[in-house]
Amino acid sequence: MSKPSTILVTGGAGYIGSHTCVELLEQNYELVVVDNLSNSCEYALDRVDKIAGRKLDYIWADVTDCNAMESVLENFNVEAVIHFAALKAVGESVRNPLKYYENNMAGTLSVLKAMAKHNVKKFIFSSSATVYGNTAQMPLTEDSPLGPINPYGKTKLMVETMLHDLYASDPTWNITILRYFNPAGAHKTGLIGEDPNDTPNNLVPIITRIAGGRMDELMVYGDDYPTPDGTGVRDYIHVTDLALGHVAALKKMTEPGVHIFNLGTGRGYSVMDVIKAFEKASSKKIPYKIVKRREGDAPTSYADASKAKRELDWQTKFGIEEMCSTAWQWQKKNPLGFKRPQ
Ligand code: NAD
Ligand code: UD1
Repeated sequence: MSKPSTILVTGGAGYIGSHTCVELLEQNYELVVVDNLSNSCEYALDRVDKIAGRKLDYIWADVTDCNAMESVLENFNVEAVIHFAALKAVGESVRNPLKYYENNMAGTLSVLKAMAKHNVKKFIFSSSATVYGNTAQMPLTEDSPLGPINPYGKTKLMVETMLHDLYASDPTWNITILRYFNPAGAHKTGLIGEDPNDTPNNLVPIITRIAGGRMDELMVYGDDYPTPDGTGVRDYIHVTDLALGHVAALKKMTEPGVHIFNLGTGRGYSVMDVIKAFEKASSKKIPYKIVKRREGDAPTSYADASKAKRELDWQTKFGIEEMCSTAWQWQKKNPLGFKRPQ
């Protein structure tokens, strides 16, 4: 019997990967996940199975290991690869750039080499709004000027460049680059959510931990930006909407090429807006103090997501309320993240 057509999801045990696996399983895709659990744990995949009521295959492997990637492609009939596996902590990437260049660049290179060898040429890449340069011109379109300023962001742009070169050398490749804005929230069941192994650096996970009593106080990085209340403005996107963006992109992979899409809501919220929305969702007070600006932060960043709407038939369904309420539900149900299996 021929093996069923399968989607290979690298980094599928992580925050965005696990939510995407749920949506793919619910739409009857067969999945194999490759993850080395460097920033996740296997319980996340058990929970994915539980939510979807179906099982995915999981292989422990490091994506930088090209032989391991080849063996996955030999053992499964892979039709397309969704490549989430990467390190993502901006501060760490500044302190330890080689770790980021190795993991994020060599990891992608090894996946692409294994794919080329096995003639699998559909590839979806997790890029980031961080590839855009610091510009006052909002919203950001896919054609806005590029110019990441930290090693993490540079790995994303370098991979994008590599993908353009790959397609130029072989126009049978079908590559989709998804530039995510600020993912937030958790699955509506409260069974999966964001659970970084280290102290979080992003706004919503920090606020969530403060509400859950795991951290004391939020440092608001600056209230003197040229924004309505002086605090930084970002385009927060519910992780389920983001996951559905991947399903939409996968379904539209009919034409070879390099297709780039912003995935965001098109609407910006300030740090103070997020604090207020979270306080409302959780009925908890979020203590905060204003401190100086964080180096490298843009005042404002939000997407023009009209290309994804037009070409992928995709648009976001959830707002900041659902992002905060689901993040809070995840925290309440899992006070220590995945560390205590249910
Ligand atoms: P995450 O850390 O939760 O998930 C990444 C997963 O990849 C983890 O399970 C980790 O164990 C795995 N991984 C890392 N290196 C690996 C390796 N060498 N081999 C095998 N597995 C490896 O992060 P996330 O938030 O789910 O992000 C997923 C992707 O989206 C990443 O590429 C990230 O850079 C990108 N992204 C994330 C955000 C965000 O704010 N979360 C924004 C823009 C882009
Ligand atoms: C950050 C990264 C970006 C990465 C993205 C997702 C930087 C400079 N940028 O984006 O490269 O792609 O995360 O991982 O690190 N804030 C506070 N206090 C906090 C944390 C955040 O006030 O403790 C503010 C920030 O100044 C910003 C907003 O909250 O205005 C959102 O911050 P964050 O969640 O870190 O996302 P980005 O800065 O957009």
